[in-house]
Formats: sequence, C-alpha cells, structure tokens
Amino acid sequence: MNHKHILISGGAGFVGSNLGILFKQDFQDIRVTALDNLKRRGSELSLNRLANNGVEFTHGDIRNPEDLASVGSFDLLIECSAEPSVHAGYGSSPSYLINTNLTGTTHCLEAARAHEADIVFLSTSRVYPIKPLRDLPLDQDGSRFSLSKKETGVGWGRSGIAENFPLIGPRSLYGATKLASELLISEYLDMYGLRGITNRCGVLTGPWQMGKVDQGFVVLWAARHLYGGALSYMGFGGAGHQVRDILHIADLYRAIKLQLTRIGELSGQAFNLGGGLNTSVSLRELTQICELMSESKVDIQSDSATRPADIPWYISDHSLISDAIGWTPTIPVETILAEIFAWLRDHRQQLEPILK
Ligand SMILES: NC(=O)c1ccc[n+]([C@@H]2O[C@H](COP(=O)([O-])OP(=O)(O)OC[C@H]3O[C@@H](n4cnc5c(N)ncnc54)[C@H](O)[C@@H]3O)[C@@H](O)[C@H]2O)c1
Repeated sequence: MNHKHILISGGAGFVGSNLGILFKQDFQDIRVTALDNLKRRGSELSLNRLANNGVEFTHGDIRNPEDLASVGSFDLLIECSAEPSVHAGYGSSPSYLINTNLTGTTHCLEAARAHEADIVFLSTSRVYPIKPLRDLPLDQDGSRFSLSKKETGVGWGRSGIAENFPLIGPRSLYGATKLASELLISEYLDMYGLRGITNRCGVLTGPWQMGKVDQGFVVLWAARHLYGGALSYMGFGGAGHQVRDILHIADLYRAIKLQLTRIGELSGQAFNLGGGLNTSVSLRELTQICELMSESKVDIQSDSATRPADIPWYISDHSLISDAIGWTPTIPVETILAEIFAWLRDHRQQLEPILK
C-alpha cells in the first residue's frame, strides 16, 4: 500500500466504517482516521468497531474546514460523508444536503490540496437524470421489470447504464450535488496536479448499513421481516417490480483497493461501480428471499404513487472499471442477504431500536 494515512470522511457511516476497517485489516502498518459528525442514526454503533480495529475516530463536520484541519496531514482522502438520500430536499429545506454534499466536499478538496493527497470520491448512479431513466423501454418479466429485448441506446443496453448515458435533465438535488462535486474534483485534479478517482455507485449494502425508507432498502427489507414493522411497494404500479443492482461492501472495497494500485493511470476518470445484472434484484424478489431467510411474512402495502426521484430500473454497466482493473462483483444476492440476516440476528438488541 503506497498510502500511509487515509482520511475517511463519513468514516462512521456504512461505507466509510467498513472501508476503514477493511483497509486496517489488510494493511496493519497504515493509519486510518474516520471523521464523522454522527448525523446518521446508528453511525454511533461504529465507534467501538472502529476502535477495536485500530481506526482512529475524529468527531468532526465537513461543513467546518477547521474540523478537517484538525486531522493533520494525510495522503489519501476517501470522501464518504453525505446526506445520502435521493429524496432529501423534496418538500423540505435543501440546506443540509447542499452544505454537506457540495460545500462540505469543497472543504474536503481543500484539505486534500493542502496535503497533496489523493482522492477517492463516492459518487452515485443518481448523477444520471431521472426522466431518461424512466423513459427506458421496460417489460414486466415475471417478478421484475426488464429492459425490452434488443433495444439499446446511447449509454444503455443489456449490461445496464454506462458512463456515457446522457447527463441532461433534472436528477434530484442529491444527484446534482454529487455531479457538481465530480466537476469540482475534475478541476482540482487539473489545476492543482492532484490525483483522484470517482466511483458512481449503484446500491451498496451489507452488514452495518442502517437501512431506512429513503436509503438502504435491502437492510430495511431484511430487518422488517425479522424484527417486524411496515413495508410498502411504492410507485410504478405499487407491485414491487422495480429493479436495482446491489453490491456487497467487500466487493466495493476490493475495487477501490485495486484502483489505488493504478491511481496514476486512472486519475480523472469516473466509473460506474455496482453489482451489475447478475447481482440485481426486484423488490418482489427481495421479499421472497427475506421470507425464506426470516421464516416470516410481512403484509406489504401497495402505494401506487411514484415519488419524484424514483426510477423503475437501474443496473450499473461496470465494464469500464472491470476492464481497467480486472474486477467483477463476486458476492451473489443470496449470500449478501444471508450475511445481513446473520448480522441482524447477532446484534438484535443494538439494531432493533434503529431498524424496526
Ligand atoms: N449506500 C449506498 O447505497 C450508496 C450508493 C451510492 C452512493 N453512496 C455514497 O456513498 C457515501 C457513503 O454512503 P453511506 O451509505 O455510507 O451513507 P451513511 O449515511 O451510512 O454514511 C454517511 C456518513 O456521513 C456522516 N455525515 C453526514 N453529514 C456529515 C457532515 N456534514 N460531516 C461529517 N460527517 C457527515 C453521517 O453521520 C454518516 O455516518 C455517500 O457519499 C453516498 O452518497 C452510497
């Protein structure tokens, strides 16, 4: 490992805490600092896990440049802090979202510039605009929507959505702050001679994700089956046919670790990083898996109203990054769910008040 001190902003969150711990487990001689303001409910549960794995924790807020400065020097920034919900700002103030996801990211970039650190940015598939994604030709194929056979277009096809999918049109404030951050990163790399990689992630999941209705649906679905609580199929007919690819956090870690070995070459690029078609699931299919694994049934409500940022089908075409670093997702949907259920059972006392 060429980097000696990694700063992970949002380092107590689902992605940040898992990446920090996995880096420390692989490379004992490096320092890893997790900075987090603990805004996300459940992130406080990461503090013991981080400490037990040798990850240093700094309670800080990326909206305050002084908090980032207090970390001292570092040579790699992994930017994982965010208001991560695509629904944030609809019908409520967007200020936290913008101040964190955009202004906060610029503070992170300034900190990286001060220390000439490399940057890995966790962006999102939601940089792609909503209407063109909704306009994709879909068929209802058993328990899921599928792309109509033989149809392809610019940036989309059987393998999913690629990086050249057109970027024109509204995408939610969440998506817009992420795309704006991508643009700023690109300018920082060019103007200040820094190195950085952007990953446009599809749905990420695994143990220690604090799933809620507007973010982290895989864990939410599993937890409600095990602990009880309401669930509903929302939008697109209210029957749960919408499809996402899901990526296990350990597969994300492997991809980032490989990217870092080639950061000079890959710097400046944005990659779609997700589970792909083979690791995709519809909500109805997820229900079936959860019923089997929990041995219980939830009476799932149907809500036909489609929320403004909802999309019916998204699969990451990850061929650009797969070809660049020789990476493919290895953990199938059933294995991901089996791990999540084992974690939910093992930590029920801690998790039930948060996830029920
Ligand atoms: N989980 C996914 O499915 C997914 C998909 C695509 C992209 N992403 C991106 O990956 C990154 C990590 O997401 P996650 O799933 O771990 O979310 P998360 O909510 O679990 O983690 C984000 C962390 O950031 C912290 N945070 C929020 N505002 C902050 C601030 N102002 N200063 C410091 N810390 C702050 C929160 O307390 C939380 O611990 C985010 O940028 C998200 O947009 C996630």
